[in-house]
Amino acid sequence: MAYYQTIEVTPLTPHIGAEVHGVDLAQPTDEQVADLKQAFVDWSVLVFRDQHLNREQHKDLGRHWGTLHTHPMNAAGTREYDDPEILLIKTTEKSKYTAGNGWHTDVTCDAIPPLGSMLYITEVPPDGGGDTLYADMYLAYELLSEPMKQFLGTLTAVHDGALPYVGGYGTIPPEGGYPRNEHPVVVTHPESGRKVLYVNSGFTSHIKGLAPAESRALLDFLFRHIAETPRLACRVQWEPNTLTFWDNRCTQHHAIWDYYPNRRYGERVSIVGDRAPAA
Ligand code: SIN
Repeated sequence: MAYYQTIEVTPLTPHIGAEVHGVDLAQPTDEQVADLKQAFVDWSVLVFRDQHLNREQHKDLGRHWGTLHTHPMNAAGTREYDDPEILLIKTTEKSKYTAGNGWHTDVTCDAIPPLGSMLYITEVPPDGGGDTLYADMYLAYELLSEPMKQFLGTLTAVHDGALPYVGGYGTIPPEGGYPRNEHPVVVTHPESGRKVLYVNSGFTSHIKGLAPAESRALLDFLFRHIAETPRLACRVQWEPNTLTFWDNRCTQHHAIWDYYPNRRYGERVSIVGDRAPAA
């Protein structure tokens, strides 16, 4: 494990998730950004407490990792706040759904999905709840049998934005529809070089080349493997002014909506990946 010069890192589990102390995300030094880049690859989910950022500082933080992403629902004009690079994560007693209330990887319907997302929660539900689970997709792959790994390594899946955004959230699609793209079922993380199971119940509609019943059975098996293997996951309990930065290339997450009718509020900035997911 890498040694960090300028930050303190406390693991949440031995394989996924860490709390990071000793950095002000509103003005990190170059040395701290270098350590954070290493910690991001090492731990996949980084949790920062008691951070105070305005929107520009939040976006500047994201830009250390690349170009900021515009969410397809923001691009479709459904946003409440007039900045396409900020996604509101807001749940109230009037909400019909809460974003991400199911296992998923963000926006895998894009040809180049976000490499990571930074969610800054400023308001937590007053009577508890609202945690987020993050699952390790390296381990999800590694726990499969060798014959299954080999078979999955030959497959490509379709990821369709209409599944969550129309089917789940009931939004009106933009002209031309939400994005729909294909990715290998097993991809290699561009920085760690490790293999990742890359299908998710949020966006993956089917596997190419299989009969519909075969595709459904295989996806259901893989989605169950992710949902029913608790050792894959770490759990982030939010406090006001917590920012969590997850590596979208090797994790899935599940926001738990267990706090109705209370409110939870945050803003998310995501960073576009520098290449399409590849085997
Ligand atoms: C999301 O980005 O999917 C929402 C995560 C959360 O609200 O914890």
